[in-house]
Amino acid sequence: MSTIDAELDFRTPELDALASRVIPEQHFELRAEDARDSYFTDTSKLDAKQLAHDRFRTNPLALHDQLIRALELRGTEELLDLGCGNGEILARIRPHLAAGHLVGLDIAPGALEAARQRLDGVATPCEFVEGSADDLSAFGTDTFDRVMAVYMAHYVTDLPGCFAAVRRVLRPGGRFLLATDRPDSMVEMYDVHFAALHEMNAPQDLFRATPKARISLDNGAAQLEPYFSSVVRVDWHDQLQFGKAEHFMAFYRSCNYCCASSKPGEGLPQSFFLELEHRVRARVQAVIEERGYFALTKFTGHFICS
Ligand SMILES: C[S@@+](CC[C@H](N)C(=O)[O-])C[C@H]1O[C@@H](n2cnc3c(N)ncnc32)[C@H](O)[C@@H]1O
Repeated sequence: MSTIDAELDFRTPELDALASRVIPEQHFELRAEDARDSYFTDTSKLDAKQLAHDRFRTNPLALHDQLIRALELRGTEELLDLGCGNGEILARIRPHLAAGHLVGLDIAPGALEAARQRLDGVATPCEFVEGSADDLSAFGTDTFDRVMAVYMAHYVTDLPGCFAAVRRVLRPGGRFLLATDRPDSMVEMYDVHFAALHEMNAPQDLFRATPKARISLDNGAAQLEPYFSSVVRVDWHDQLQFGKAEHFMAFYRSCNYCCASSKPGEGLPQSFFLELEHRVRARVQAVIEERGYFALTKFTGHFICS
């Protein structure tokens, strides 16, 4: 594996120290079925999260700029987006592929419908397929020039099956782009979240990190290397700066309270989350009053595999 470091570096010794203090070893484990039946039955949370990432960023390059740069498109490629969600990224990429062909695959029908509507009427051929990223049997061998998996691989239980399938559908000379985070990304959110949970004597089960154990920037290369002859890790950083607590709280909610409310069917009462919100908000507000904004530092990136 080779590595390309962030052009804009937000890492500081203080953030490293905070991460080693607050990021737990244990992560939540999410499943594709839960994505389909619970988190993405509609895309309201995904829509809110994407808006906040874009609106409050301080890196002049947005996620889609980073992806477009990494995809190195000529404009005629056939591209498959695994876990395309609401189609926001496909819509951003489409002008760079005006004479190409886009296929969005997602396990959640509600997400696929949002993507279909977002791209409705564009002249570039677009198809939307319901299915799971670890079963690409709907597609022939050597079909795509580009395959992407953007912030979705942590849902895929059979990652070896997924990577073998991507290798099969990718044409020789094509590239696979997998975007994910470092486990300490957005450590400031964990800090206020866990502090509030501690105050509430919350169940131990909730003291887990968001689901980056299965795959992250730190452990992804070793999993990809058996399937691709070249794996390049590209790190990039951003910092979301929230000048108003209410905007941070909307983001925190859209992250399912750092996954604390992600468990379908076994939910804690609403009163628990109201109290959690109240305590987190007070901490965020105190930082805003002292510093002018509440910062969330993103340590993110992607692997370019060929
Ligand atoms: C966090 S969203 C990311 C959406 C989009 N890639 C983006 O970055 O904006 C994860 C998406 O992956 C989908 N998903 C989860 N597991 C999947 C699987 N095994 N196969 C296909 N899609 C899956 C979810 O339904 C959801 O739309």
